[in-house]
Amino acid sequence: MCGIVGYIGQNEKASPILLDAIKKLEYRGYDSVGIATINNEKIELKKDSGKINEVDKELQLKDMEGCVGVAHVRWATHGYPNKINSHPHTNNNNKIAIVHNGIIENHEELKKELISEGYVFKSETDSETLVHLIDKFINKGLNFQNAMIETVKLIKGSYAIGAISINYPNELIAIRNESPLVVGLGDNGNFIASDVPAFLKHTNKVIFPEDNELVIMNSDNVTIKDLNGNILDKKVETIDWNEEMAQKGGYDHFMLKEINEQSVVVSDTLSGKKDIENIVSKLGNINKICFVACGTSYHGALTGKYVFESFLNISTDVIYSSEFKYFSNVLDENTLTIFVSQSGETADTLSAIKIAKNRSKTLAIVNVLGSSITREVEHVIYTKAGPEIAVAATKTYLSQLISIYLLAIYLSKNRNNEFYENMISQIEKVPTYINELMLNEDKIKEIARKYKSYSAFFFLGRGFIYPTALEGALKLKEITYIHAEGYPSGELKHGPLAIIDENVIVVVLAPSENPESFSINSYKDTINNMEEVKSRGAQVIAITSYENGERINVNDIFQIDNQVDELLSPLVYLVPLQLLSYYISIYKDLDPDKPRNLAKCVTVK
Ligand code: M6R
Repeated sequence: MCGIVGYIGQNEKASPILLDAIKKLEYRGYDSVGIATINNEKIELKKDSGKINEVDKELQLKDMEGCVGVAHVRWATHGYPNKINSHPHTNNNNKIAIVHNGIIENHEELKKELISEGYVFKSETDSETLVHLIDKFINKGLNFQNAMIETVKLIKGSYAIGAISINYPNELIAIRNESPLVVGLGDNGNFIASDVPAFLKHTNKVIFPEDNELVIMNSDNVTIKDLNGNILDKKVETIDWNEEMAQKGGYDHFMLKEINEQSVVVSDTLSGKKDIENIVSKLGNINKICFVACGTSYHGALTGKYVFESFLNISTDVIYSSEFKYFSNVLDENTLTIFVSQSGETADTLSAIKIAKNRSKTLAIVNVLGSSITREVEHVIYTKAGPEIAVAATKTYLSQLISIYLLAIYLSKNRNNEFYENMISQIEKVPTYINELMLNEDKIKEIARKYKSYSAFFFLGRGFIYPTALEGALKLKEITYIHAEGYPSGELKHGPLAIIDENVIVVVLAPSENPESFSINSYKDTINNMEEVKSRGAQVIAITSYENGERINVNDIFQIDNQVDELLSPLVYLVPLQLLSYYISIYKDLDPDKPRNLAKCVTVK
């Protein structure tokens, strides 16, 4: 949550670069925006609440002068989203400006002390404490860098901080702890940012600072030091993402672009097969799997339970990251704990890793290269989905599922080579099934238009496809604000059936059976459950690969290729559900890329 950016160049004006960069991070928060630059030995500051384009229109952010600056987009934690609480924050004589992402847990006691020393606070934020502390240490005679070091020694919590000072006009400094920060090395200046897409237009050469490593940059040099002032030798990495990947590419929204990229994403994720095989060879004896994740990634993990238990006969738990601490006693050295996260920065998941890492083997399935989670675990599988900008996860969810299937398939390879080969060849057909159904996008638009005004949806599925029902409901809630619930089809009669009537839309996921597969053949039971809701008056939309799907008597049917049986269904059925949510959001005149109250990367607990 919150995105920070900093740029320092020689001749290029910083504000247009910062504005462009911060727009790339708007998925991290859109409550307010601000930029500070050093202009003529003064801090120039423009900020306000609202989305970037609105604030830019009002304040002309790109007209600010100066070749060094910091910028921020906010997802409010402490303090209402208004102008005063927007970042950057400045010290009392406006010589220093900072941006911050994270939470300073001990800000209240620090604030009290600073106030007693004469510091005046303008905002209600925890972040403002930082700028006064830096100022205090500079007033005590420390230089800018050392003032930052002394500041972070006093604070508790998570932070990625960028800071500039008019007394150090050729220096931009930054530091992180449990909040993302990446350094970009450009030909015409250097960058800090919460995430790589911010500066991909200028460079794909990056350094990932570790917690409490101080970044000091000028226009042509970056130095990284530890808190004792020792210079560290850091690896420069090249990211194989490009600017185009972080743009809308002619689509109206990132979400639609990302849905459309999915057939290619499957192939890209499959290209990581060898890496997964290699990891599997190093895992040693495993007698239990424990998946840990949040949100959409949790639904990927839950699918993993069906996959691992069916393919490998191995006991598999799935636990929400925020609940993990209550279950961690069951881990041991033969447990493989698998953390699933798109961003690799989710605070709840990071906390769970800290508990699991000394008690079990750890592996993470992550999309963002170099993110915090990748540094905390023993093994990492990168999902290779490319940058995902829309807040609602789509293509990264599919890439997680593919990675989970591959992991299970490789773990089973030695036991059953025939099964391994058959599954790999089936997964390789997934892009074709997705391309086929995308040709029928108009049918989804028609369904979306027809049901957009209803206020209650249920998504039902059994077995392998049940977690996809949960995901369908989450997508709809996130971007259309319609109340939606995902349920195992058989569970409705145990209570929720009471609220079914003609005002409720029920989306039934009914994959065809495959008698030769591991699937438990749930089609007939699902159809019986569908009849139960129909006879209570619900309007039913069926998504099915049953070859006689047209004969099911429901209000609407979306047909999936009949080769997509239960086993494969999680990898294909998600797509019409994503499209359904997307188009309902469009027909309700909402912005699917920026749902209210949400941010893509949840770095608070
Ligand atoms: O980055 P992560 O996968 O760890 O994020 C977990 C959830 O916050 C995330 O999946 C969230 O539910 C998405 N907005 C879903 O669309």
